Amino acid sequence: MKKSLLLSFCFLLLLSCAKKSAEDQFIDNLLSQMTLEEKIGQMNQLDPSWNAEEKEALIREGKVGSIFNVVGAKEVNRLQRMAVEETRLGIPLVAARDVIHGYHHIYPIPLGQGATWNPDLVERAAQLTAQEALSDGIRWAFSPMVDVAHDPRWGRVAEGYGEDPLLTSTMGAAVVKGYQAEGMAACVKHFAGYSASEGGRDYNTTWIPETQLRDIYLPPFKAAIEAGAMSVMCSFNALNGLPSSANPHLNIDILRNEWKSDALLVSDWGSGSDLVPHGLCADKKEAALRCINARMEMDMQGNIYTDYLAELVSEGKVKESQIDECVRSILRLKYRLGLFDNPYVPEENQTDISAAFAELGTKVAEESAVLLKNNGVLPLNIKHSTLNILITGPLAHQKKEQLGTWVFDGDTSLSVTPLMAFNSQHSTFNIIFEPGLTYSRDKSKTGIQKAVKAAKKADVVLFFCGEEAILSGEARCRTDLNLPGAQSEMMDALAATGKPVVMIVMAGRPLTIGKQVEQAAAVLYAFHGGTMAGPALYNLLTGMAVPSGRLPITFPKMVGQIPLYYNRHNTGRPSYDPPMLIDEIPIGCPQFSIGQSSYWLETPTEPLFPFGFGLSYTTFEYGETTIDTIVNDQQSSINRTSYLVQSSIKNTGNYDAYEVAQLYAHQLSGDLVRPIKELKGFQKIFLPAGESRLVSFTVTPEDLGYWHEKHDGLVSQVWFATDKAEFKFKIAPNSDISL
Ligand code: NOJ
Repeated sequence: MKKSLLLSFCFLLLLSCAKKSAEDQFIDNLLSQMTLEEKIGQMNQLDPSWNAEEKEALIREGKVGSIFNVVGAKEVNRLQRMAVEETRLGIPLVAARDVIHGYHHIYPIPLGQGATWNPDLVERAAQLTAQEALSDGIRWAFSPMVDVAHDPRWGRVAEGYGEDPLLTSTMGAAVVKGYQAEGMAACVKHFAGYSASEGGRDYNTTWIPETQLRDIYLPPFKAAIEAGAMSVMCSFNALNGLPSSANPHLNIDILRNEWKSDALLVSDWGSGSDLVPHGLCADKKEAALRCINARMEMDMQGNIYTDYLAELVSEGKVKESQIDECVRSILRLKYRLGLFDNPYVPEENQTDISAAFAELGTKVAEESAVLLKNNGVLPLNIKHSTLNILITGPLAHQKKEQLGTWVFDGDTSLSVTPLMAFNSQHSTFNIIFEPGLTYSRDKSKTGIQKAVKAAKKADVVLFFCGEEAILSGEARCRTDLNLPGAQSEMMDALAATGKPVVMIVMAGRPLTIGKQVEQAAAVLYAFHGGTMAGPALYNLLTGMAVPSGRLPITFPKMVGQIPLYYNRHNTGRPSYDPPMLIDEIPIGCPQFSIGQSSYWLETPTEPLFPFGFGLSYTTFEYGETTIDTIVNDQQSSINRTSYLVQSSIKNTGNYDAYEVAQLYAHQLSGDLVRPIKELKGFQKIFLPAGESRLVSFTVTPEDLGYWHEKHDGLVSQVWFATDKAEFKFKIAPNSDISL
């Protein structure tokens, strides 16, 4: 038995070596035929839509390895022919694109996808997206973005999966699997620490201690690499003083040596040449040197490699073997995508995903919306024969805006708006449409008056408010997170009619809507729901679907609370309740009489809504969390304790519905201070009304470990370990628990 096992193991090993060597042999062989100029050409990624003629000449000369922002099978094939048929070695190009949350058919923004807490759904969406993009010639998607974000001022919070490393890791890995199962390479970005930009201002400096980097920001990248991500993109920011494109610690020590990744590392747009304005390098030549020494392998639109690498090699400052390493990664990606065998895409019979998308796009949008408040007005009683519904607000009928940020190829004509969805139903209710404001920043008052007049005739008001798509995404950062334009005034006016106002927020980030939440009868936070936002919202508002989204990020009450996130530390002086707020301080109060705890004078430390929060049309009852120790080897010098954590959950209401069971852990003491709670697992389960289910999680020492740090003089050392400590666990509907 043992012998046969050994034999089959050796056979498998041989097989895998043989497989590997076929790839390696191919690459070695090709590399050996390449001139230095051709190698440097492969390291160049260009957007040929700028100076097309000049760039096409470069392709013909073999000076381009990848193109991006070229769309359409015909156009990609046209440029591909130049590379394959006109260059000496015929190395194919790889066409990349910012495929972020859909292609022509758009899903909710990634933050909304995070709110689904449903990785299977997200993976299926990615698969369908890949099918559509591939048929347009795109072989490489610049996503997923897995930057864990604590700051909703930062516009790119829309592009990630929120504030939690585990949720982000799970979603990022799902996208990687979905794309790559179809043959489109994923590019996990932005490596690393980009989201912690000071002041929430894009491209800004980030300062992240190594332990926090590894506990919070790196795990989603590692998860994406483990899921097989074929490429990684550098970030723009300087991390602890060193921009990522020139950061050997990130790109070599961690990505290559620790994680053993052979994914291709591409710069962000000109992030290599940016080393000059960063103030790291005196000129672009020095920037090229710093980047190649940090193994940035492909230069996106920066021209620093094409302009300076050959010179640096001839001066002996760069070894040709360094260049070979980079080119090997590039050829490997092309080889694995099958581009050497099939460089062209079929130009006829494009994949039509519309039928599959209609269902999936609606489902993802339904599951991404989070019900934040409901006084019972929802679901709307549409069977009530005289129900007059006012549909109002600047986002009720905006085909483009509901798609959200990063939708270069999104087909606006496919969008079904909430107004269209309601109008398409031959139901008993009457629809009155009066937008009030024409876009989210609109400040005109006349429209509001019309909407108020209409509200007076309605039984219920559906106020579709939020942010236009252009207000979130890259370089769209805000210092004011209130509803833009005159939307708050509009809400005041609508609420003053006394009619129940259901607020549906379509936005790229958490907004500070505390006052409006109080005024509204119900609040459904829909993010930007994509092409099918309308039908999804119709289904949710009318009870055809039951809300199951949960917040992937904490909602602050006011901007001054930011950064506000659930897995924070307690401090040595935790805030006590109730703290004395600014107007309660007696005049002339002596300095120490108001206590010394960690709080703000204007607002308590609680968020508006906690991470993980979301209501349903039904109710769930959680049983006690039970904890069983399943391995407990006290003799071992390392912690080897695993736990089985369980709780029963009962659907105690009248609707069959999904619930997201969330497992939180807290380590009571340790080598370093630990967060007050951390998400260690989650399960989205379907529970018919009246039914119960036991949910179980196994928590391993690996799940409970964290990065430690020791300083020895100037040298600091980090290592991952699990303390021998006491842990508390709770399975809960959201993070608003104490452990
Ligand atoms: C800059 C962005 O930071 C990155 O996410 C994107 O993929 C590239 N530009 C390409 O458009």
